[in-house]
Parts: sequence; structure tokens; C-alpha cells
Amino acid sequence: MVSEARRVIQFSTGNVGRHSLRAIIGRPDLQLVGVHASNPGKVGRDAAELCGWPDPTGVIATDDVDALLTLGADCVVYTSQGETRPMEAIEQMAGFLTAGVNVVATSMVWLVAPRQADGWLRDPLQQACEAGGTSLYVNGIDPGFSGDTEVYTALSLVTRARSITVQEIFDYANYDDYEFTGNAMGFGMPADAMESVMLFLPGVLTSMWGGPVRSLAGHLGIELDELRQRVEPWFATERIDCTMTTVEPGGMAAARFAVEGVRNGVPVITMEHINRLTAAAAPEWDYPPDGKTGVHRVLVEGEPRVEVNTHVSHPVYDTTDAGCMSTAARVVNVIDWVCRAPVGIVAVEDVPPVEMIRGLMW
Ligand SMILES: NC(=O)c1ccc[n+]([C@@H]2O[C@H](COP(=O)([O-])OP(=O)(O)OC[C@H]3O[C@@H](n4cnc5c(N)ncnc54)[C@H](OP(=O)(O)O)[C@@H]3O)[C@@H](O)[C@H]2O)c1
Repeated sequence: MVSEARRVIQFSTGNVGRHSLRAIIGRPDLQLVGVHASNPGKVGRDAAELCGWPDPTGVIATDDVDALLTLGADCVVYTSQGETRPMEAIEQMAGFLTAGVNVVATSMVWLVAPRQADGWLRDPLQQACEAGGTSLYVNGIDPGFSGDTEVYTALSLVTRARSITVQEIFDYANYDDYEFTGNAMGFGMPADAMESVMLFLPGVLTSMWGGPVRSLAGHLGIELDELRQRVEPWFATERIDCTMTTVEPGGMAAARFAVEGVRNGVPVITMEHINRLTAAAAPEWDYPPDGKTGVHRVLVEGEPRVEVNTHVSHPVYDTTDAGCMSTAARVVNVIDWVCRAPVGIVAVEDVPPVEMIRGLMW
């Protein structure tokens, strides 16, 4: 353990949280001092057991948030399901921030572009930062990397850009999150239920991906006339069984959706998703290249044309888990910088790129 190791609490041990927990335990520049679990079956167990780490850590999972507040931690990695219970998540995050504990989070994806976020989300957290002299940073792979760092990389290679398309083409079959992702996207549901599916409600897509589109337009120094959203379901013709859910014939098994930033009547910044359950779904839509199950892609039409395809994979975990691991990396890697950052909610453009890579090799 290096002497200046940051004292860190891992808050939740789900799809993303178990990977951030492993990262914190393994890194010499971070010291795990607390773990939150809400699931009664996880409370009282050693952190190592909850993330498949071979040796006990002596840090025992608790559901007692007040006890975690007294640990004198430098930072909390907050990966608890936030979008289904935003007010509670804001209260929990604000509690740490007010108590002098910085927060990095993958939850509350609206805050990936914090300067574009609505006041009801931003204001209580900004006030908590000011009260506690702390900072908050939210990011992930998408929204996150694909719409910010990956785009900035592509744009650094052109002298002129006419349009930017960001795509996540990903098979969610093995994503074990029906509660939020599955429900919100309407997987398994019949055509007549689409009207009540969250993804299809007016304004929902722009609330999730509009912030990154507007943020990018701002960095490019252009004015958008409007943000448009489009969404298209694909219904199964045969039963599909997968980790996410079981889809009966007639149930939705793929969705293609996008938020478009329009200038002079033309989409100039597009953030699009094609998410399917198994390769059998939506065969007429684009697939990731080379038989892969996922890609985060940026296409810039300009001088010259640039295409960046990012594939994450792992020898043990599947692509979905690798995506969750990368989502965890997007915030764990910034802990040290966030602990030194200006007070308030910080955004990806505030983070010097090399601060995202410190402590990775030891
Ligand atoms: N931007 C991106 O690229 C990206 C990618 C993936 C995820 N995310 C976001 O990251 C967050 C975590 O995603 P995930 O897939 O890891 O979620 P998840 O596995 O469905 O849930 C994470 C954990 O949240 C905790 N939790 C659930 N209900 C709770 C409650 N009522 N009170 C306190 N804790 C509760 C549980 O922790 P315990 O099991 O420890 O009890 C659960 O395991 C979500 O907000 C998601 O939207 C963002």
C-alpha cells in the first residue's frame, strides 16, 4: 500500500459495483475502508466475497449509511441503481458530499453532462459539495466515454467536421438488469405496451442523451436549432431466452433509438443506440464488426473521415461485464483527481486526460 492511498468506500455491489470493488481492493493507490450493500443476503459478508476477490479484506458490507459517513473516507464510488430512485440517490450522495466525502458515480446518468442537467438534480448536489468542500464526478461508457472522450479523440484528427455520429451497438442478452434497463427499454413487451415504455415516452431520450449532445455542440462552438429523438422497436418472431429476460414471439427484442442535434434542418450530432437481445434479434439492423457482440463507435464525416471503433472484452467475463468493468474504470480512475478537484460538480472536460490513467500499472 502506498502511503498516500486514498481511503475509499464502495457503495453497492451490483453489475458495475462489483468491478469497482475489485479495482479498489487491487490497487495500491486506493484503500478500501467501507462497503455498502442493500441486499440483506450481502450485508455482513466480507467485501472480497462480494466481488470474487481471493483473499478476505476484513471490510464487511453494511447497510448502515450513517456508519459509513463516520469512516473519514476520501471518496465514495457510488454505483447504486439511481435512476429508479433518484430522490433517494441524491439524498445519499448529498449526505456524503456534505460530510466532506467526495463522490464519483456511475449512477444518475443525467449528470454525465452536468452543465446541461436540470436544476432539480444539480442544485442539491452542488449545494452539498459547497457545504462539505467536496466534488462530484459522474461518468460511464455510454453515456460517457463514447459521447465525450472517444469523440474528442476522433475530432482531434480532423481539420473540419460536418457531422458526428456516436453509436452503441450492443447485445444486452447477458446484461442482468431487467429491473431498470430491461423495463425502461421495454424488452419482452408486446407492441400495444410500447406507449407506456419509458424509452418511448416523449422527452425521455433527450433527458438521457440530450445533455451530451448539447455539451458537444457547446464545445464545438455551434448553435443547435433543436434536439430530436427517434425510437424504433423490433419484435421477436421466435422465443428468445437470455439472462436479461425471456421474450415470447411478438415481444420486443431489439430497440434502435437516437437523439439528434439539428442545425439548418440537418442532424449534425447524433447519439444512437442499437440494443438487441442475442444476435437473432433485428437481423436487418447494423451489427458490431467482425462478429463481436458490442461496439462503441464514433463516425466523423469531415476532413478527413474518421471512424473509431472501441471493443471491450475480457478473457473471463463476457462483453457486457467488460462494459460494466469499463464503466467502473471511468470513475475509479479519476478518484485521486476528484479528491483534489475544485469544489462542486465536475465534468469530464475538467479532468486532464493523464489524470484518468494514473495508478493503472503497478
Ligand atoms: N453510463 C454508463 O455507461 C452506465 C453503464 C452501466 C450502468 N450505469 C449506471 O450505473 C448504475 C449501476 O448500474 P448496475 O447495472 O450496476 O445496476 P444494478 O446491478 O441493477 O444495481 C446496482 C446495485 O444497486 C443497489 N440497489 C438497488 N436498489 C437499491 C436501493 N433501493 N437502495 C440502495 N441500493 C440499491 C444494489 O446493491 P447491492 O446488490 O449491493 O445491495 C444493486 O446491486 C445505474 O444507475 C446505471 O444506470 C451507467
